Amino acid sequence: MNSRLRSVGIIGTGSFVPEKVLTNFDLEKMVDTSDEWIRTRTGIRERRIAGAEMASSDMALASARRALDSAGMSATDLDLIIVATVTPDMLFPCTASLLQQTLGAGHAVAFDLMVGCTGFVYGLGVAREMIATGAYERALVVAAETLSRITDWQDRRTCVLFGDAAGAAVVAPVEQGRGILAYSLGNDGTNADALKLPAGGSRLPASAETVANRQHYLTMNGQEVFKFAVRAMVESSEEVVRRAGLAMSDIAMVIPHQANLRIIEAAAKRMDLPIERFACNIDRYGNTSAATIPLALDEAVREGHIRSGDFILLSVFGAGLAWGSMVLRW
Ligand code: ACO
Repeated sequence: MNSRLRSVGIIGTGSFVPEKVLTNFDLEKMVDTSDEWIRTRTGIRERRIAGAEMASSDMALASARRALDSAGMSATDLDLIIVATVTPDMLFPCTASLLQQTLGAGHAVAFDLMVGCTGFVYGLGVAREMIATGAYERALVVAAETLSRITDWQDRRTCVLFGDAAGAAVVAPVEQGRGILAYSLGNDGTNADALKLPAGGSRLPASAETVANRQHYLTMNGQEVFKFAVRAMVESSEEVVRRAGLAMSDIAMVIPHQANLRIIEAAAKRMDLPIERFACNIDRYGNTSAATIPLALDEAVREGHIRSGDFILLSVFGAGLAWGSMVLRW
């Protein structure tokens, strides 16, 4: 990275999960599935579901307050807010704008990134550039997903996978040689159909027909995404570790996207890293899209698994199909 630019890193983290737990046993009563199938195929035991009164900006707010607390900052210190979500409160105004208001961050420029699961890492990359140049000082990057609202609870192939959560990071200039050392983002639009929410946009606006056809729920080609996921995570992780001037064995902890434990295990094997170095909480929260990485990162920080000076690797894939990896020195 350009050495004339300022070093930028994460100086605080926070997360939020709704109270309501939906277990695999609960799902057995809703669709033709079993706890055994879900656990062995995905590693998921339970997930959290937001109450009817709660939208993505509410979860974003709770995680943002915790991140600001841990950074020792107040909302008025922020000059940039980026929210990654595919489940905005509404299509516009953007969720970041709603959050700016509830958080009381009146000075902050606020916008959303809608790139699916990769959104948090994309958001960190964008914030890094905007701060490194000196244009902005202190950013809040938040991922908030209420996936339960776009999940087809009659489709056993998808409804067992997802949950609701939010995670946030305060991003600011840090000491030279710390913070974000390298990142790599990518996208392959030829596979755009593998993961999508078909209706509700300008292509297929909401109508009685789209509702009757259940086109307001996410659809996924699981096997296509699985194959892509392992390759994308491994290749972009190797690239970014090399660009940071490190070897894979230097990485103290990997925070991978939590979509399927088998994907994480396959990536660990191909990266020749012990699975113990991978933060895994998919058993408790399922796949919360863009929120999985900040949620797992916040847990790892609060539980003392990340120490000052550690090299941390974030790696994610998702709709697009897109991917992103990033190396930070904590
Ligand atoms: N319970 C019981 N049986 C099921 C269920 C279920 N919940 N879901 C599917 N099955 C059945 C299928 O119908 C199929 O039965 P059949 O052989 O009689 O046709 C059988 O189980 C095997 O189905 P597969 O799709 O081959 O199962 P697979 O081992 O591939 O696992 C899974 C499916 C878990 C979806 C896997 O492909 C996967 O994790 N893919 C990646 C998905 C992913 O990462 N998505 C998120 C990326 S983006 C984001 O994070 C938002």
